[in-house]
Amino acid sequence: MVKDKIIVALDVPTKEEALAIVEELGDKVGAYKVGMQLYNACGPEILQAIYDRKGRVFLDLKFHDIPNTVASASRVVTNLGTFMFNVHCCGGSAMMKAAVAAMREEAEAKGIEKPLLIGVTVLTSLSEEELQGEIGVARAMREQVAAMARLAKESGLDGVVASAREISVIREACGDDFVIVTPGIRPRDAAADDQKRVKTPGEAVADGADYLVIGRPITKAADRTAAVEAIVKDMEESIQNQ
Ligand code: C5P
Repeated sequence: MVKDKIIVALDVPTKEEALAIVEELGDKVGAYKVGMQLYNACGPEILQAIYDRKGRVFLDLKFHDIPNTVASASRVVTNLGTFMFNVHCCGGSAMMKAAVAAMREEAEAKGIEKPLLIGVTVLTSLSEEELQGEIGVARAMREQVAAMARLAKESGLDGVVASAREISVIREACGDDFVIVTPGIRPRDAAADDQKRVKTPGEAVADGADYLVIGRPITKAADRTAAVEAIVKDMEESIQNQ
C-alpha cells in the first residue's frame, strides 16, 4: 500500500512526545524512524512501546565500527524486531558483510522476519569541498555516492539512504531491485525548515524512491492524520500519472 512508503521521523526528545505521535497515527504510515536522540534518551523500550501502538521501526543509528562490533550490534537490533536499520557504507565491505551475515543468522535462528539493512553513502550535510578537502576522498560527490551504493549492494545490503537528487545515479549503479530511502520531503505548501533541496512526496515517488522519511511536515502539523492523508493522495496521483 502507498501509505507503507511513509516513514515518520520521531525527532523528539521524550518518550511522551514520541508516543503521542504514534498513538495518533498508528499504522496509517509504514514505519517510524527512531534516531540517536530518542534512542539514547529512552533506550530500547521505546521500540516495544511503538510496536504496542501498531508501528514498525526504522532504527536510524548508522553503525560505523569494526566488523565484529557492528555484527554484534546488528544481532541486537535484529532481535529488537526492527523493520529497518542502517550502517555507514564507508565502514567498508567487510563491515557491511559482517552486518548482513549476523542479521540473517539471528533472524533465522529466532524465526524473526529479516529487517531491511540500509547503507548511508555520503552524509548529505557534507559538501564536495569537505568530502575532498577535509576527508580526503579523491572522487567527486556523485561518483562517491555511486561507488558507495555499489559497494553496499555487492556486500548484500538491501538499499541506501539518499537525497532525491541522488536517486538516478544510484538506480544507474545498482538497478531497480535496490531499496532507496529518501529524506528531504516537503508537501507543496509546507515550510522547507532547514532542508535546502526538497522534493514533494509525489516527485520523490516519481523519481523512484521506495520509502520517504518525513518529519516535521507530519509531526508538527495541526492535524497529523490530515497531513498523512494529503501526502498519500499526492503519492497516489503521481503513481497513477506514471
Ligand atoms: O523534519 P524533516 O522532514 O526535515 O526530517 C527529516 C529526517 O530525515 C530527519 O530525521 C533527518 O535527520 C533525516 N535526514 C535528512 N537528510 C539526510 C539524512 C537524514 O533530513 N540526508
